[in-house]
Amino acid sequence: MGSEKIDTVELGTGGPRVGVQGLGCMGMSWAYGPTDADEARATLERALELGVTLYDTADVYGLGENEKFLAPFLRAHRDEVVLATKFALVAGPDEPFARTIRNDRGYVRQAVEASLRRLGVDVIDLYYMHRRDVRVPMEESVGAMAELVTEGKVRHLGLSEVTASELRAAHAVHPIAAVQSEWSLFSRDIEESVVPAAAGLGVALVPYSPLGRGFLTGSFVHADQELGEDDFRRGQPRFTGDNAAANAALLEPIRKIADSHGATLGQVALAWVHHRAAAHGLTVVPIPGTSKRRRIEENTGATRLALSERDLALLEPIAGRVAGDRYADMTFTSAGRE
Ligand SMILES: NC(=O)c1ccc[n+]([C@@H]2O[C@H](COP(=O)([O-])OP(=O)(O)OC[C@H]3O[C@@H](n4cnc5c(N)ncnc54)[C@H](OP(=O)(O)O)[C@@H]3O)[C@@H](O)[C@H]2O)c1
Repeated sequence: MGSEKIDTVELGTGGPRVGVQGLGCMGMSWAYGPTDADEARATLERALELGVTLYDTADVYGLGENEKFLAPFLRAHRDEVVLATKFALVAGPDEPFARTIRNDRGYVRQAVEASLRRLGVDVIDLYYMHRRDVRVPMEESVGAMAELVTEGKVRHLGLSEVTASELRAAHAVHPIAAVQSEWSLFSRDIEESVVPAAAGLGVALVPYSPLGRGFLTGSFVHADQELGEDDFRRGQPRFTGDNAAANAALLEPIRKIADSHGATLGQVALAWVHHRAAAHGLTVVPIPGTSKRRRIEENTGATRLALSERDLALLEPIAGRVAGDRYADMTFTSAGRE
C-alpha cells in the first residue's frame, strides 16, 4: 500500500484545510474493547505522515481518557493537526454508555474548559455539539459556542446528529463548518434532508462510522458472540441475532467489487463514502476509526480507489435492505427527530 499523502480540502466554507480523510480516535480508548496503547500512538503518527490531519475525539469517550490519550501527540504536533472534540453527552463511571444530554450555556462553558485541560491545548480547532437537547434553544447552545469562538477557545463550530432544520437554525446563530453524522453503505438516512441542507449552506459532512463500526470490513458478524463483553456493538440491533446474519449477506457485492479492484471490503466502503462528495455536491471528510498502523495505510488508500458507475449501481440498494436500527435508542439520532 502506497505512502502517498492524501489530498486536502476546505472543511466547509471558511473552515480549516484538512486531509480528505480524518481519523476517528474513539476506539483507541473506548467502546470497542481493549487496544494496544503503543500501537495506537504509532497509528496517530502514521496517519499524520500520510496526510491525515483531522483528529476526532469527544469528552465522553472513555470519560475523558481519549482526550488525555491524545495530549502528548498534540503537544508534539499541535500546528499540523486539526483537533476536533465534542461536548453534550454526559455519562457516569457506572454506566459509561448510558447518556444524558446537556446543551445549556453553563454546561458548554464548563465542558470546554475540561476538554482544553485534558487535551493540553489553548484552543480547539473544531468544537462539536455531540447531541442536541431539544429543550435548549439553539440561540442559547450555539450562542454559547459562538462566545467560545470570540474568546479564542474554539476556532470553528460543528454539530453532530442534527436535523436539517436544526442545522439551519444553528447556522443562523453562527456559521457551522461541519456536521458529523453516521454515513456509510449501511446508514444513509441523512441523505434525505441533512445532506442537501448542508450542501446548500456550504457546510461539510464528516461521516462517522463510515466502516459501519467495522462490520463493513467483514471482520465480524455476530457482535454478541465474537466481540468482547464491554464492546458497545453488542448492543446494536444490526449486529446481533438474525439481523447480523442477514446483514452479512449484504456484504457480497462489496466483496465482489473489492476483488475486481484488488482492494479490501473496507476500502470499497470508504471509497463509496468519499464518492458522496461528488454525488451530493459538498465536502465530505470521513473519519474511519482504527488503532492500527497498517489499517491507516489501507484506509487512506481508499481515497485513490475510483468506483465505476457499475460498482456504484451494485452498492446502491444495500442500505435499503439493512435489518435493524443503527442504535437501540433512535431518539438519540437526528433520524429520530425528523
Ligand atoms: N458523533 C458521533 O455520535 C459518533 C459516533 C460514533 C463514532 N464517532 C466518531 O467516528 C469515528 C469512527 O467511527 P467508528 O470508530 O464508530 O466506526 P468505523 O470507523 O466505521 O469502524 C471502526 C472499527 O473498524 C475497525 N477497522 C478500521 N479500519 C479497518 C480496516 N481497514 N479493516 C478492518 N477493520 C477496520 C476498527 O478496529 P481497529 O481499531 O482494530 O482497526 C474499529 O473496530 C470514531 O472513532 C469517533 O471519533 C462519532
